[in-house]
Amino acid sequence: MRARVVYESMFGNTAAIAEAIADGLREHSEVEVLTVAAAAEKPEPTVDLLVVGGPTHAFGLSRARTRRDAATQTDAPVATDTGIREWLDAALPVPGGSRAAAFGTKAAKPSWLPGSAARGAGRRLRRLNYELADDPMDFYVEGTAGPLASGELPRARAWAEHLAHTELDRIAHRV
Ligand SMILES: Cc1cc2nc3c(=O)[nH]c(=O)nc-3n(C[C@H](O)[C@H](O)[C@H](O)COP(=O)(O)O)c2cc1C
Repeated sequence: MRARVVYESMFGNTAAIAEAIADGLREHSEVEVLTVAAAAEKPEPTVDLLVVGGPTHAFGLSRARTRRDAATQTDAPVATDTGIREWLDAALPVPGGSRAAAFGTKAAKPSWLPGSAARGAGRRLRRLNYELADDPMDFYVEGTAGPLASGELPRARAWAEHLAHTELDRIAHRV
């Protein structure tokens, strides 16, 4: 099985979740992890599973304006040109049967804060004709710049193992 994980991250939290997901997939799959900027430069891969994630900004996927806002809150270099939203909006529809999964990070508090980058990515993936291997998954940070809430890295890894098992079962039963 081959998988590709594509992520966007301003402060490193979504990047850490992406790496934990890759670790979980790697037990059962070849895995490539790419920033969205790198993925935009590479041709569309032929993979069994594409996993896409980003941070929740202003109730959904980030926009250039929210990424610039985030960039003012960190000294680390932040890519503000292309986010998951722009990358998926520019992507071409895929053949039937292509599989994907969506994840995102969002603030743990206040817990009622609506909106989710994971759901935004999931909606776009379905629009591109992907079948989702699971419901979009949110992972939580304690504050805007992090850290990740306790237990989120192992939860991400376990989710990825669940995804891998689901896909391996499908591949095994494919005629
Ligand atoms: C401009 C901006 C807007 C944000 N809006 C939301 C929001 O609407 N809901 C939410 O739960 N978190 C929001 N956050 C918190 C982000 O989700 C958090 O910074 C992100 O999960 C951290 O991931 P990263 O380190 O990968 O960038 C916002 C953060 C920024 C910088």
